[in-house]
Amino acid sequence: MASIFITRAVPDAAFELLRRELPDAKISINPHDRNLSHGELAEAAAGADALICTLADPVDDALLRALAPRLQVVATYAVGVNNIALPTARELGIAVCNTPDVLTDATAEIAVGLILACARRMVEGDKLMRQGEFGGWAPMFMRGHGVCGKTVGIVGAGRIGKRVARTMRMGFACPLLYHARTAHADWEDELQAERTGLDELLARSDFVSLHCPLTPHTKHLIDSAALARMKQTAFLINTARGPVVDESALVAALRDRRIAGAGLDVYENEPALAPGLADLDNVVLLPHIGSATHEVRDEMGRMCARAVIAVLTGQEPAHRVA
Ligand code: DGY
Repeated sequence: MASIFITRAVPDAAFELLRRELPDAKISINPHDRNLSHGELAEAAAGADALICTLADPVDDALLRALAPRLQVVATYAVGVNNIALPTARELGIAVCNTPDVLTDATAEIAVGLILACARRMVEGDKLMRQGEFGGWAPMFMRGHGVCGKTVGIVGAGRIGKRVARTMRMGFACPLLYHARTAHADWEDELQAERTGLDELLARSDFVSLHCPLTPHTKHLIDSAALARMKQTAFLINTARGPVVDESALVAALRDRRIAGAGLDVYENEPALAPGLADLDNVVLLPHIGSATHEVRDEMGRMCARAVIAVLTGQEPAHRVA
């Protein structure tokens, strides 16, 4: 009998599919309303043929080796796979599958939402209203920064970056810069985006939106030197992965008003925040909700289930990254 371990409660859609297609499988789920520690995960997943995990689970070399040779597939409830030791999985013949595409629009919505919320001081305004501090309309009151026609710099030319780029171009007439390892004709032809080096993008953009995966190369890509290159009136938006930004350096830049503000959905040491970050009024903080819509989370669950079903029934899964 196949054994499937799921590290967090998932929508019914995923269970229904697993139960229908693998009626004899034993499906276990982390009973706690929290992420498991490395030790707890190793213990709970021992003997599993399939693991459905989240981006918060450290599926590292040690865990994969402990679960091999029985473990056949890891299906992660995410598009990002930075928490999974892919080379080890390849070496051990463990399939790793993710959930691309389905969350592109939802994550782009959050990035665009952060751009608007930061520039137009929406969260500050909401707080002020609730505190009864609105004294009435006045010419100098709560002025922010306009968005239409401002230059948007996109770091990373993947699906989510392109969706944000298109929205900002089509919806707000923003000139676009992008930074990517290779040129993308579709960005340049369809969106009139200009490919630049990172330093130039940082120096010219009014909004810098991060959409690159977390790799050893992109860890702290935005450090104090990078922040120093940004305009004092510019905003940094991060819906990718927290460690792409040196969060302590960002706190210093925001505190000293070296940049205008930031909008963050992801954090360097999630769920913890760098000291001082939550005290700043020029940052909008969201709890990693890029993909958090009912529709998307249901479909992500189904995609994980389909990956597990495929591997455990001897078929090639659709979205295999290792
Ligand atoms: C992902 O899929 O990598 C996202 O961060 C989850 O919302």
